Amino acid sequence: MLGAGGGWRALRRCASLPRAVRLRVREALGARQPADAVRVQGWVRSVRSQKEVLFLHINDGSSLESLQVVADPSLEKRDLTFGSAVEVQGKLVKSPHRMQNMELQAETIHVVGPCDIWSFPLKMKERHPLEYVRQFPHLRCRNNTLGALLRIRSEATAGIHSFFQDNGYVHIHTPIITSNDCEGAGELFQIETPRETKESVEKTHFFNVPAFLTVSGQLHLEVMAGAFTHVFTFGPTFRAENSQSRRHLAEFYMVEAELSFTESLQDIMQVMEDLFKTVTSTVLSKCPRDVELFHKYIAPTQKGRLEQILKHKFMIISYSEAVEILKQASQTFTFKPEWGCDLQTEHEKYLVKHCGEVPVFVVNYPYDLKPFYMRDNEDGPQHTVAAVDLLVPGIGELCGGSLREERLPFLESRLQRLGLTDAYQWYLDLRKFGSVPHGGFGMGFERYLQYILGVDNIKDVIPFPRFSHSCLL
Ligand code: 4AD
Ligand code: MG
Repeated sequence: MLGAGGGWRALRRCASLPRAVRLRVREALGARQPADAVRVQGWVRSVRSQKEVLFLHINDGSSLESLQVVADPSLEKRDLTFGSAVEVQGKLVKSPHRMQNMELQAETIHVVGPCDIWSFPLKMKERHPLEYVRQFPHLRCRNNTLGALLRIRSEATAGIHSFFQDNGYVHIHTPIITSNDCEGAGELFQIETPRETKESVEKTHFFNVPAFLTVSGQLHLEVMAGAFTHVFTFGPTFRAENSQSRRHLAEFYMVEAELSFTESLQDIMQVMEDLFKTVTSTVLSKCPRDVELFHKYIAPTQKGRLEQILKHKFMIISYSEAVEILKQASQTFTFKPEWGCDLQTEHEKYLVKHCGEVPVFVVNYPYDLKPFYMRDNEDGPQHTVAAVDLLVPGIGELCGGSLREERLPFLESRLQRLGLTDAYQWYLDLRKFGSVPHGGFGMGFERYLQYILGVDNIKDVIPFPRFSHSCLL
């Protein structure tokens, strides 16, 4: 209960100061009606003081566009600068400005958090290059380009979940800490406690076995596909490979799907293509202004190309055809193309160009190049497996997938040759108890964003350029 004095004071506050409705900048800009008492909070993107009027632009991350605030010059204060955090209260009115629907006529401006513009690395009205803002991972989200990217990333994430949920897939949280190396490439980060790391006489593992950060959720998804038929996961994956390249990260997000009762690679490719096209259309329609920023300033030809790609079927070629194309190329490659050798990025880029700068599925890779779980095509003694990579312009490999070896004897002999039988007893069990033909794929989320937005460096499509050079946030 309020005491008599306190209650009276509270009542008076309510009577004299009606609490203004708090609006996000996006809501204010899209409002259909003027409103008398409105509050907007955000960060100042520009200040322009004229004799008769003070103009501010406020951004709160809800949209690329900032809200124009018009105020009497008497409201100007010394700490009302670019970058400062403010709360503005006033009237939302129709803007006379052709480019803007609404503006806020300020009655009060409260500087919540000042900003020292001299040491603040972002400058008013400057278009900072991506390389510049990369140096300030803790501040770059207040820049237009990174702001747009992070909203797009958020919409694309939601779009991926909707795509799978709408198509009857069950979402599975696959483990991040695991004891398996799904890809068998040895690109693992091992997890140890500080006690294990110190040379100790009784060196025991925290989990009793060596543990790693996951390189893929696939094997765990296969477990779940044995009960739910269609499953997907979308989470962080980790690879200890060269993260200094423009398309590799040590920590990245992967979307993975697994489909039971699937005998054809064609079905897997159809899901990959549908996922790509549905999510891209969603992003283009939900964040047109954010995407436009990239297509205008970062990759000017990408918009038209993307629209064409969404209208046409992706191409399909076999690995053997790909090698022939490469062998006949007039271009000289650093790595000589040879049947049985991995396709290098230079090869992938050439193939995509050869096919007309469109996405291309490459299928049926040599048996010895691919991980143990891929299905033998039986087109010769251990000749090719039912694998597929989706290559896209400018990036190279965007997705990797396959049919899985569901036949117990085939899998047993492959694991035995690799000396992995003991480690994968549980995986062999899946082939003993109701095994079905199945397959799936994984798509690198950052490479997807790089491709649709035309961003050259993968570090510019993640919230924090993690573990790259100086950043250990
Ligand atoms: O081709 P990958 O290695 O496939 C797998 O891990 C399968 N187990 C997936 C599955 O079938 N469920 O990786 C899938 C995709 C690649 O095509 C690439 O886009 C991305 O993950 N990727 C990376 N992205 C950024 N940085 C890295 N270091 C990446 N390594 C792979
Ligand atoms: Mg791959």
